[in-house]
Amino acid sequence: MNILIIGNGGREHAFAWKISQSNRCDKLFVAPGNAGTATHATNVPIAVDNFEALGKFCSEQAIDLMVVGPEAPLVKGIRDYFEQSPELKKILIVGPGKKGAQLEGSKDFSKQFMLRNGVPTAKAKTFAANEVYDALQYLDTCNPPIVLKADGLAAGKGVIITPDLDEAKATIQEMLVDKKFGEASAKVLIEEFLSGIELSVFVLTDGKNYVILPEAKDYKRIGEGDTGPNTGGMGAISPVPFADEAFLKKVEDRIIKPTIAGLHKENIDYKGFIFIGLMNCNGDPLVIEYNARMGDPETQAVLPRIKNDFVDLLVDAASGNLHGKKVESIPEFAATVVMVSGGYPADYPKGKTISGLDATHPALVFHAGSKQVNNQIVTDGGRVLAITGCGADIQEAREKAFAGVAKLSWEGVYFRKDIGMDLMKLN
Ligand code: AMP
Ligand code: GLY
Repeated sequence: MNILIIGNGGREHAFAWKISQSNRCDKLFVAPGNAGTATHATNVPIAVDNFEALGKFCSEQAIDLMVVGPEAPLVKGIRDYFEQSPELKKILIVGPGKKGAQLEGSKDFSKQFMLRNGVPTAKAKTFAANEVYDALQYLDTCNPPIVLKADGLAAGKGVIITPDLDEAKATIQEMLVDKKFGEASAKVLIEEFLSGIELSVFVLTDGKNYVILPEAKDYKRIGEGDTGPNTGGMGAISPVPFADEAFLKKVEDRIIKPTIAGLHKENIDYKGFIFIGLMNCNGDPLVIEYNARMGDPETQAVLPRIKNDFVDLLVDAASGNLHGKKVESIPEFAATVVMVSGGYPADYPKGKTISGLDATHPALVFHAGSKQVNNQIVTDGGRVLAITGCGADIQEAREKAFAGVAKLSWEGVYFRKDIGMDLMKLN
């Protein structure tokens, strides 16, 4: 098969690494890709939202399967664009249409979907710009900490949690009236604060049937001990020790089954990944958010643990044939450490030469923000590399990952040294 992956992050490098191992993969392309994807595939310089150029490329290269990595093209309707064309509609696509992608694209839509379908989640109320007064009054009835969420996509920055009621009031005015996040904050949710430990569960569905991938824990904050601003993700661990069989059964029965049944009932033909962000509240799972894609950097910890031919799973999901399929996972731990540019998640320089990529690595090295300039690989984003180590326990997985990290450097590099340490303490 000829396969095209859309995206340019560490997640897409992990996809390319795994897909290239399948006997079913003939030609593999990544649009636009990065310096890491170029080692397994041919990079194609087309932006993820240039549907016309992507469609033309797919026709010219006889693409059979397209795997959409990031949320933006899904929310913008890449599947709908392909399905409207007599020529492109025969291409198998992993990723939901515009309607299904609203599970991630609109927090109000996803909250209402959960409520309609009996999926446990935090209580919330949505307010539009002309309801600021009501929102301020409602805040007076809430117990801090207060959770404010922009309805639309805001590059991971649209959630504000504050213990201070006055700050919450000022922030909601900035969001609704001053449009702090543009159209994404035309509506804002005021949500109940959930306390517990977070984890991510990944489902691949063909719209009726589903398989569950290994779960993972993400480390979102920039600083050690979960301090400082939120990032796209600074590391991941899979599996999550506290997600034992009994907990995962609750996730499947209370969350996954009603989610898939709800999509079916609401005529949302969803073929792709559902990333369920969960809070473990005293042993009960509650949904924080859905994403219409895999996580980054969770994918870099999850895929090395999957034994299956990944192309088989992707084709089965995209063609409606997941019935009776199961994900086989390796009973090892994976630890992923993200190496970022100094300054991230605020401003950071680009173009710094990365050294150590030629060394023999005890770990897997996935590129995120990198590019090749002449004969050198240089930094080209905030999150630059994601290094994954595997081992019998979290400690061994961490040791392998950090042995990999130690061989790599560039000016200003930063990474968290505590990825997975909280889970070792829980054990
Ligand atoms: P989201 O963009 O929905 O993933 O939210 C970003 C982060 O905010 C989540 O990963 C959680 O750490 C936190 N968060 C979101 N909603 C809640 C909530 N209701 N209670 C506690 N923390 C939350
Ligand atoms: N690591 C969180 C995300 O991919 O949204």
